[in-house]
Amino acid sequence: MAVRKILQYGDKRLNSICEKVNKIDRRILNLIDDMMDTLYEGNGIGLAAPQIGILKRVVLIDLGEEEGEPIIIINPKITAQSGREKDFEGCLSYLGYEGEVYRPTKVTVVGINAKGKPVTYNASGLLARAFCHEIDHLDGILYMTKAEEMYELTSE
Ligand code: NI
Repeated sequence: MAVRKILQYGDKRLNSICEKVNKIDRRILNLIDDMMDTLYEGNGIGLAAPQIGILKRVVLIDLGEEEGEPIIIINPKITAQSGREKDFEGCLSYLGYEGEVYRPTKVTVVGINAKGKPVTYNASGLLARAFCHEIDHLDGILYMTKAEEMYELTSE
């Protein structure tokens, strides 16, 4: 397990369409371990594999202990969505800023977990937003391109 360097805006790999994972092998499990270490080190709530330079469709979301177990989803796909709401987002690949982005209020996401088992999430609010943000990463889309307004964060 290792904390990996998080690619920053401007790195072309962040604009790539990632490949589907066909087989959950040791390399994918190591990738997931590294993504976990990297997310916690970076104090984020979500991370997509391309952010550490691996162009595979793997997403990790962890909204914190009170919100339950971390979610690892491979080959995630939004199959249904409803509503629309604007809220703030940030990204570990674009530190020092946040932006207001419209996202669906509710999404249904299907994929497989780290054991290769099919999973379905019916998510709303922040979790729905996190799924949208991370799945966008897998298609090379950064939230800044969807933001209504961007704000520079000032350090206290
Ligand atoms: Ni991000």
